[in-house]
Order: sequence, then structure tokens, then C-alpha cells
Amino acid sequence: MDSLFTPVTLGRLQLRNRVVMAPMTRSRAAPGDMPTDLMAEYYRQRAGAGMIVTEGIAPSANGIGYCRTPGIYNNAQTEAWRRIVEGVHAEGGLIVAQIMHCGRIAHPLNKTPGSETVAPSAIRARGEIYTDTEGMQPFTMPRELATSEVASVVAEYAAATERCFEAGFDGVELHCTSGYLPAQFLSTGTNLRTDAYGGSVGGRVRFPLDVLRAMARVDGGGRVGFRISPDNRFNDLQDDDPQDTFTALLAGASELKLAYVHAIRIPRGRVDNIGLARHYFPGRVIGNESYSGEEAADALDSGELAAVSFGRAFIANPDLVDRFWRGKPLAEFDPARLYSPGADGYTDYPALPSAR
Ligand SMILES: Cc1cc2nc3c(=O)[nH]c(=O)nc-3n(C[C@H](O)[C@H](O)[C@H](O)COP(=O)(O)O)c2cc1C
Repeated sequence: MDSLFTPVTLGRLQLRNRVVMAPMTRSRAAPGDMPTDLMAEYYRQRAGAGMIVTEGIAPSANGIGYCRTPGIYNNAQTEAWRRIVEGVHAEGGLIVAQIMHCGRIAHPLNKTPGSETVAPSAIRARGEIYTDTEGMQPFTMPRELATSEVASVVAEYAAATERCFEAGFDGVELHCTSGYLPAQFLSTGTNLRTDAYGGSVGGRVRFPLDVLRAMARVDGGGRVGFRISPDNRFNDLQDDDPQDTFTALLAGASELKLAYVHAIRIPRGRVDNIGLARHYFPGRVIGNESYSGEEAADALDSGELAAVSFGRAFIANPDLVDRFWRGKPLAEFDPARLYSPGADGYTDYPALPSAR
């Protein structure tokens, strides 16, 4: 397990250990898509991670899809994030903002009045989404973005990146999977466009590559990462040839000198996601999905991965790195309280008593 506790450099990010906290939406934001002091406490408790990747943060009011999720598109939100970042830094931690635009995976009841739901094509996702006021509701029908509008959505990501750095975040990560906006552009099932942002694989990768380029232009690529999971079917996502799609995305991104790619494996998928990332991306690879501490250490020892991220294990084990270090058992989280408002099931999982 020793390799988990060794430092690693990802671009310009220097991690003190290789145990990364995976991004997790927890629905604790306040009205106005506002980060809160409770969220500051949650992230501060988990600052022992080599790097925290935050929950998905919307770059615009249009980018919100779920209830009580935060944005970073105005000054008040940016200041609130600054307090969160400062709390993590005060504990010696590193924190990267995951920028997540939900696109069609949304419902108006979860969104600020006046905002819209947009997507590459006007195709409603099959399924339902939770709303606080009316329970489960069918996904809304998105409006297809006009070609002339796409650049302004790219600009939203660049502006959000600027705000993240203003707030003191160490880096930013583009959420490029799980059925959200970049994944909707990438996939044949959600992108029926006939302009330069659709059609061939070169067209479908154009939007996420434009976004990554715009994010990297803010302060270089060394503090920018992106998250992929080829053949991920979450949120009604369907792509005819994810291997081909993600090969093109990784090859395009390889020119941007980015800090890392964060790959979620899918054991029964059509693609070896970690293998693909390693083969086509020349930088560092963070692996994710159901790793135990031992398996993660093996992947680091063999040189397969530079770091491993843990999601669910961090929910009930704020001191996860310490537990790995001391060989202590892990606590289980309560799924019923994952997204409930308030401290319950969020900041009330205790760390183990100190060894001293
Ligand atoms: C409650 C919850 C919320 C999540 N929200 C996000 C998210 O906002 N962005 C993201 O990229 N992945 C999200 N994920 C996926 C996790 O980052 C991670 O890929 C998944 O939990 C598998 O890793 P694990 O086996 O270590 O838990 C979420 C997972 C959970 C359990």
C-alpha cells in the first residue's frame, strides 16, 4: 500500500499522496446555485486526500440540471467557493473544481427561473429526474443550440475557469462523461447535428476539444484535467463506436499539455477505458471505479496509473487516507442520505480517533 502515500505531480499540480477524492454531486447548495458553509466543512473534513475533485459545478445557470447543485457564474458564488478552497488549503490539501454542464439532463424546477435547457440536438433523455417540489419528473425536452451559439457555451466554460482560479482552486476538470453536455456532443445517439459540431467523429469531438482549448487558454494546460468513461450508458447515453470517439478525443487533447485524464473504467463495457487513456493520452492517468486500497496500490506500483480516485469510500470516511495508512476498516455510507439537504449523511460521518 506504500505507493498510495507517495507524492505525484500532475502537470502543475503537486499531490502529497495518490489518493484522490472523486467528484460527487451531493445536492447541498443553497438557492441561487450557491455554495454554502456546510459544503466548506464537508470538503475541509476530506482535505487529507492528495487532491479533491469537487462535485460538478455549473458554468452557467443553463448548465444546472439537478436540485441544489452549485454554480460558478457570478461574483457571490465565486466568493463562496473561495471560502471553501481556503478551508481545504488551510489543512494542506489541494482542490480542483469539476466543471459540469448538464445539457439535457435537467428539469426546469431545478433551475433558476429564466434559464434554459440546451443540447446539441432536440432529443429528450428517456427517464426521470428528481425535483424538490414535484418529486420524480420526466427529463425536459432540450432546445437545440444554433451553430452561432456554440461558441458562447464554450466561452461559459472559459469564464468559469477564470472564476475558479480567482477563487483559488488549484485546477479545473472538465466533466466529459455520464451523459452531460460534452458527452451529448460526443455520442451518436444524442448528436444529430449536420454542422461542424456533428456528423463524423471529427465533428462530434469538436465541442469538448474547443472547451478544453478554451479552459487551457486561461492559464495553460498544466492545471486542467478532463474526465472520460467511454461506453458509459448513464443518463440514456448511446454511442455507436465509443472506442473510435474517445480515441479521437484523447488524440486531440494530447496536444494541449493537460495535467491529467481521469478515466472511469467499465469492466463489462466494450472499451478498456484505462488502457485507451494510457495509449492515446501522453500525460498522467487517474483511474477510478470500485478500487480497493490494495488494487489501487498495485495499479500505481505497476506504473499503470499515476493516482486513483475514490468516490463512495470518501462519503463515510472523511479520513480515508489515514484509514488506508493505519490499515483500519472502512465505514459504510447511507444511500438514503446521499442527496438529502443539510448535515445529515453529509458532514456527520466521523473520522477515527487520532492515533496519538
Ligand atoms: C453520490 C454520487 C455523486 C456523483 N457525482 C458525480 C459528479 O458530480 N461528477 C462526476 O464526474 N462523477 C460523479 N459521480 C461518480 C464518482 O465520481 C465515481 O466515478 C463513482 O462513485 C465510482 O467510484 P467509486 O467506486 O470509488 O465510488 C458520483 C458518484 C456518487 C456516488
